[in-house]
Amino acid sequence: MKRIGVLTSGGDAPGMNAAIRAVVRKGIFHDIEVYGVIGGYAGLMKGKIEKLELGSVGDIIHRGGTFLYSARSEEFKTKEGQQKGIEQLKKFGIDGLVVIGGDGSYRGAKALTEQGFPCVGVPGTIDNDIPGTEFTIGFDTALNTVIDAIDKIRDTASSHERTFVVEVMGRNAGDIALWAGLAGGAETILIPEDHYDMTDIANRLKKGHERGKKHSIIVVAEGVVSGYEFAKQLKEETDFDTRVTVLGHVQRGGSPTAFDRVLASRLGARAVELLIEGKGGRAVGMEKNQLVDYDIIEALGKEHTLDMNLYKLSQELSI
Ligand code: F6P
Repeated sequence: MKRIGVLTSGGDAPGMNAAIRAVVRKGIFHDIEVYGVIGGYAGLMKGKIEKLELGSVGDIIHRGGTFLYSARSEEFKTKEGQQKGIEQLKKFGIDGLVVIGGDGSYRGAKALTEQGFPCVGVPGTIDNDIPGTEFTIGFDTALNTVIDAIDKIRDTASSHERTFVVEVMGRNAGDIALWAGLAGGAETILIPEDHYDMTDIANRLKKGHERGKKHSIIVVAEGVVSGYEFAKQLKEETDFDTRVTVLGHVQRGGSPTAFDRVLASRLGARAVELLIEGKGGRAVGMEKNQLVDYDIIEALGKEHTLDMNLYKLSQELSI
């Protein structure tokens, strides 16, 4: 392996820059040339590829977003698109590719690997929904952004004795809602992994009010129901003065936390090691604070599982 590429794809996540930096510096440390693909798989198909030097990744470890840009590409889901990508990589003499992204990015990496081009997947998404790792790059930062917002909402909720519905990201995975809800002391947490019963929720909130609770915070993952729709349903069951906050893409930005920077550095560097060892077609992760790697095809076959014990705990503590 003399020349490797690196790209970021799908929704950006804080810490992606730290991961790119690790790939570049680890590669150069081992006398490997590193090329950056600009704009994810869409840029790859167009040959938007440039050589990265040590200085190219200076002053980025603390920055959110991704300096290589990111995109979601429909064309790359096709075999023709993937072949275009492989042709470009070959044109630049690149022998292996590190793909930093979420499940869609992994599917692209899996397709390239199946067609003979070795890729290593690095989990980068705020959703924390990639199998084969306990934490994905960006999750911790997003979580802290949400908690910061919930703490602020709590101040105004308490002053006005209101109920707040906070909608967070997570179409299929409830990790952000669950962890933020638990850390933010929410009364109710709605996750895509469980159904909800409006009457039951309303009764629990009413009981809390009867006991003297002056305000309530409900965290809703976007994949369950929209915050506004939920507030409408709640209005039908209660007379609570309710407001809605949709946090949206604010959750995707910001300077990565120390945890995300360290995670990104470790995973990015490990991905390069795997390519050096000739182990393409892998996905790296962190389990019990140890670096692990799985066959990328198998990793995608596995299911991400939410920590149901944590969910149970959140319910027990929010009575
Ligand atoms: O996958 C990351 C994520 O932020 C999800 O939580 C969210 O549902 C989605 O991306 C939003 O995607 P887009 O930025 O394309 O609207």
